[in-house]
Amino acid sequence: MENRMEIKNGGSGRPMRRVADSAVTQTQIVLSSHINGAGRLFGGQLMEWIDIVAGVVARRHSHCNQTTASVDNLQFREAVHLNDTLILLGKITYVGNTSMEVQVDTYAEALNGDRKLVNTAFFVMVALDENDQPTQVPGLILETGEEKASWEAGKRRNDLRRQRRIENY
Ligand SMILES: CC(C)(COP(=O)(O)OP(=O)(O)OC[C@H]1O[C@@H](n2cnc3c(N)ncnc32)[C@H](O)[C@@H]1OP(=O)(O)O)[C@@H](O)C(=O)NCCC(=O)NCCS
Repeated sequence: MENRMEIKNGGSGRPMRRVADSAVTQTQIVLSSHINGAGRLFGGQLMEWIDIVAGVVARRHSHCNQTTASVDNLQFREAVHLNDTLILLGKITYVGNTSMEVQVDTYAEALNGDRKLVNTAFFVMVALDENDQPTQVPGLILETGEEKASWEAGKRRNDLRRQRRIENY
């Protein structure tokens, strides 16, 4: 096993959690009610499913209610069709003081079990206290090289988002 590295945040005083502690897998068969006029899965439907997965990841990490602050780099890579089986995998990549970045990858699974990546997305979720105000989240324990790389990428995206907000573009 690779060296365990602990990343501390603002210090919520609560135990830090591992990426695996909040990971979510959701499965969905595409029904006729999910199809748009072009005969494909309606993108807004997929976004709803992704948003729910991201929300559950954030709840499991923070043990708080949460709200979606932003969505970026949501890419529809492949069309999805009636009766496809979708697998949505959500995991936390980065935590700030009150915010958490969640990556959700969506795969279409063939009958033989082969999976094709059809969507990737990054959501920023903010933990809320009982007064509906942002509240500190636990730190994230990174256990693998992949988790460390995701953290570094998440930190970079966080810096870019902050810059965009400052410059309003
Ligand atoms: C997201 C929200 C809670 C932030 O509240 P705020 O008063 O701006 O709070 P802060 O400025 O202290 O920001 C809190 C955190 O959110 C992050 N944040 C705020 N706006 C953001 C944005 N547009 N994109 C990404 N992150 C954002 C901040 O960086 C901060 O993170 P940090 O504590 O880890 O550093 C508030 O804007 C809100 O409630 N928005 C509506 C969310 C909603 O209703 N979503 C559902 C969609 S219908």
